Order: sequence, then C-alpha cells, then structure tokens
Amino acid sequence: MTGKRILLIIGGGIAAYKIPQLIRLIRAEGMAVTPILTRAGGEFTTAMTISVLAGEAAHEGLFDISTEAEIGHIQLSRNADLVVVAPATADLMAKMAQGLADDLASTLLLATDKRVLIAPAMNVRMWHHPATQRNLALLRDDGILMIGPDEGDMACGEFGPGRMAEPEAIMAAIREALNVSLRPAPETRASGPLTGRHVIVTSGPTHEPIDPVRYIANRSSGAQGAAIAAALRDLGARVSFVTGPAVVPAPEGVEVIRVETAMQMRDAVEAALPAEAAVMAAAVADWRVVNSSQRKMKKDGTGQPPALEMAENPDILAWVSGLKAQRPLLVVGFAAETHDVIAHATAKRQRKGCDWIVANDVSPSTGIMGGDENAVILLRATGAEEWPRMSKHEVARRLADEIAKELG
Ligand code: C5P
Repeated sequence: MTGKRILLIIGGGIAAYKIPQLIRLIRAEGMAVTPILTRAGGEFTTAMTISVLAGEAAHEGLFDISTEAEIGHIQLSRNADLVVVAPATADLMAKMAQGLADDLASTLLLATDKRVLIAPAMNVRMWHHPATQRNLALLRDDGILMIGPDEGDMACGEFGPGRMAEPEAIMAAIREALNVSLRPAPETRASGPLTGRHVIVTSGPTHEPIDPVRYIANRSSGAQGAAIAAALRDLGARVSFVTGPAVVPAPEGVEVIRVETAMQMRDAVEAALPAEAAVMAAAVADWRVVNSSQRKMKKDGTGQPPALEMAENPDILAWVSGLKAQRPLLVVGFAAETHDVIAHATAKRQRKGCDWIVANDVSPSTGIMGGDENAVILLRATGAEEWPRMSKHEVARRLADEIAKELG
C-alpha cells in the first residue's frame, strides 16, 4: 500500500471526531492523504487538526483561487488511488446519487474516475428513510463501495444502524478496495485462459417475502461469490453474476443480474444459459412462504401468530446439474458444514449431481462465516484436496485456476 494516495472527503457529522484516528492509520501504512473538508465537516473537526495529521493542507472551498489555479479540482480527484468519504452523511449520499456538484466535495466526487468507498454515518431514522435507502440503491448500482454503518447507541440518544464504522474497519475496507482496484479495468483486460468462455456464478443470500415489508433471509455476505466472479473475469471469462441482496458489492466487469428470491434466481440462471461452467455460491433459502401477503400483515388481537405456509424452493444446483441439453460442462456447488465435512460433502456431491463441491467447516470457532478467510476442501469424483486456510480472494483465484484447467 506504500505510496498510494487517499482522497479523504470529511462530511459533517459527529463521527468526524474519529477521522484523525483514521488518518493516522492510513499514514501508518505509508499512504498519503489529501483531506477535503465539507463546510459542515469543518464544524465538527478543524482544518488545522486535519492538516497537521495529514501532513497536507485540508482543501475546503471550490473557489479557493490559488488551489484551483495550481491544481484544479479535476486534478485533485485524479491524483488519488481511492476516494474515501467518511463520515458520509445522508446529504452527501443524496448529492452523490443525484450527481450534484455544488461544493468542492461533491464536485470531486462527480469528477473522479477512481473507486469511491463511503462510510455512512447518520441518525437511525435518516438511515431508514426511503429517500436514503433509494439513494443507497443508486450508489450501489454505480459501484460505490460501502463500509458500515454499524448498529449501536448513537450520539443523538437513539439506537440502531447509523454509527460510522470504526477507523480500523474503514482501514480494512480501504486495503480491500485498493487491492480490487489494482486489477486491470475490464476494457484493458488481457485475454486469459477463459477468454471466450461463459460462466454463471450465483452469490449472496435470497430474500423470501412474508408480506411487503418482511422477509426470511440468511447471513450470507456474498463475499466468496463476488471474489469468484472477479477471479473468473480476470482469467478472461464472460461472467453472468446472479446475485441476491448481498452486502459485498458486485465486481466490475461482469454482467450483474440482481434477484431477490430463490425462484427469481432459478429463472435468472435459466435465462443466462448456456454456459461452459456454473459456480453456485449462493446461500439459497430452502423454503419460501407460499401464503405471503400482498398487504402488511397485522396483529388481529387474538394473540395468535399468522400461520405461514412454507414450500421447498427449487434446488438450483441440482436442477442445473440434471439438465440434459444445456448442462454446463462443469458444475460446482458449495457445502457449508459444521462437522464431518468430507462425508457430508461427498454425499451432497452425489445427491446434487454436480461435478465438484467446495466444502468448508463453518463452525463458529473457525471464524469463517462473515470473515475474510476460508479453509476449503475441493471435492471431485477423484477425491478430496484440502487447501490451507487463505483469504477468500485467494480461494477464488485458485478455484478459477482449477476451472480454467478443467475447461482446457
Ligand atoms: O443443500 P445445501 O444448501 O447445503 O447445498 C448448498 C449448495 O447448493 C450451494 O452450492 C448452493 O448454492 C446450492 N443450492 C441451490 N439451490 C438451493 C439450495 C442450495 O443452488 N435451493
């Protein structure tokens, strides 16, 4: 990371008091910080504090004549390797989503061609407001990376999501974002062993609606699936990335097909066929609610909960594996187990009819679920291969290499 430059946009929120610590962490890794203070940001921390810690003068106004003459705001945004917005207020997020450029921070955000990571911080009601959630969806679609917000006690005395992620967590997200942006852009990507091949990757959880506001879900972050899609893309493959509502953003340079439910995921996979390989990394809900309501369910005063009628979802992996004409040459499934990993995964491979199973032990003691690392066993007809514990990105790269070898 040494020598990288972070353009740090500091929004106006009480969480700005954590920014000096973030600047320290960034600089401790040998990176430079160009600080930008919004007008509101300057109310919560001072240009003096920020400039001293960053070792560079904090920029404040769009029409700061000398800066504009010497550097220019376009230049400022292009000189960075990554743009970080922390705290990202509801106002800044709204400006970003709409493409407004009425001050230095928003102008830089519109002018930049670099990746942008935001660390939202706001009152819990502002976070839940449909306008903020709408903006968030737009920002996600634009490929903006996000860390947090955390849930907890807030400075305003309320409780819930809206606290800015801790500086250490933002630092980890910066490292990851820089790692991702080191990859060549899709259009300049060199061809690789999978050039001309089409691969389908499913990822993330599914949401199964109970009524318009409630759903059944699981804790899958989509981290491993996104990393696999990116690794296959890096080997030249055309990737159809069918993703449920995941926390980890979809990689660039792949075709992203967003779905909510298992039924939609099945249909999206079907529409994406034919493909030479399918990697089913999604954590598909096993059941859906068949009597889900079009209107919000209400308590009826009897004290009786509603009777939810459930039906089993289609098993997408088993269905793809059993296709006759359109079966991909290679179908890879996942098995998350808490004990007897090899025995269960072997049975699963046979039951589902897939070619390979990537199996792992997700017992809480392993810290794998929701973590950055994974320890997997690759199970094929010929036997099991145990891989050492490594990052999810490294697992993805090795798996993509194995897929490339198999497709020849
Ligand atoms: O049966 P289990 O959920 O443990 O199997 C996990 C594997 O099956 C994963 O590869 C997952 O993506 C896939 N799967 C699926 N459709 C389902 C359930 C699981 O594709 N309905």
